[in-house]
This record gives sequence, C-alpha cells and structure tokens, in this order.
Amino acid sequence: PAVPPQVPYQPSSPRQVANTLALLRGRAGKTVDLGSGDGRLVLEAYKQGLRPALGYELNPWLLCLANYRAWRAGYHGKISFLKKDLWKVNLSDCHNVIVFLAPSVKPPLASKLLAELPDDARVVAGRYPFPSWSPSSTLGQGLDQVWAYDIKEVRREVQGRAQQSQV
Ligand SMILES: C[S@@+](CC[C@H](N)C(=O)[O-])C[C@H]1O[C@@H](n2cnc3c(N)ncnc32)[C@H](O)[C@@H]1O
Repeated sequence: PAVPPQVPYQPSSPRQVANTLALLRGRAGKTVDLGSGDGRLVLEAYKQGLRPALGYELNPWLLCLANYRAWRAGYHGKISFLKKDLWKVNLSDCHNVIVFLAPSVKPPLASKLLAELPDDARVVAGRYPFPSWSPSSTLGQGLDQVWAYDIKEVRREVQGRAQQSQV
C-alpha cells in the first residue's frame, strides 16, 4: 500500500511466545519476526534451532533493547536485528515468518506474503488471525491464541476461491 498502517509496540506475553514456538517446532530455515520489538520471539526461535533467526524493526530503542537482550543471553552475533521497514524487505528466502501485528495490516500483508514466500513457508500470526486464510493449526485461547498457516495450502485456497468467482 502507498501508506502502510502504523503498528504500535506491544510485546508478546510468555504464553504467546510459547505458543508461537510450539507451532514452529520441528521446522528449519530462515526465520523472521516482522516488527521484532525487543526481540523476544527471535531469541526463542534461535534457541529452538531456527536459523538464521532475525528481526526487522524500525524503532531504534527497541533495536537497541533487542541487541542488548541477545548479548545478555549470550547470542551476540548469532541473531540479527535489522533496522528495516517490513514492507520493504523481500521475504522470498524466509521459511518461517512470525507476525504479531495489528489487524489493519493483515490484508496488505497477506498479499505481500502470498507474492513472496516460498511454497514451503509457514506463517505464524499472534493475537489476530489472517481474516481470509484458513489456518493449518492453532494453539491457545483469547489473547494468547496463535495461528499457523502453510503457504502452499493458503495459495491453493486462494486460487480455488478465485476460480470459483470466475464461474
Ligand atoms: C505488536 S509489536 C510486536 C513486537 C514483537 N514481535 C513481540 O511480539 O514481542 C509490533 C512491532 O512492529 C514494529 N513495526 C511496526 N511497523 C513496522 C514496520 N513498517 N517495519 C518494521 N517494524 C515495524 C513496531 O515498532 C513494534 O515493535
């Protein structure tokens, strides 16, 4: 979009972090948190073996905090936090994408993810699901609920809907 909606900082709860990582268990490959805040999800992803693990964040204070937390945990130089606009990074080599963002960004973000991610990618969304995608699994309740989407399945679903609307 020309002017992407703004997303305020609100850190994930310990339960949200645990649920997110549970939905990424057994997976591998480049893992990113879009809007990584203080880096808590990226840190836990790295600990779980998801590598490389990195976060994109625009707020310089949060970037500083994330780097400090990584250093304190002994992961300095192993995980990266980059000052990049999530709308401008190319996601074509990302296999696991974590999205804890406001509902208003979900529709434009859904288009970006569908256009760029590889077929075997998994997207885990916290707090709010993607309104027009069917999750392959979900965990937790209320504010702690997280949803996992397998991009191959989502593409099939979206293409199916497009074909149906043509007949
Ligand atoms: C709801 S917070 C989630 C933080 C972290 N992922 C967590 O779960 O603890 C969303 C974060 O996205 C960041 N953000 C918002 N718009 C962004 C953009 N265009 N590019 C990069 N980061 C962005 C905000 O600064 C904020 O830290």
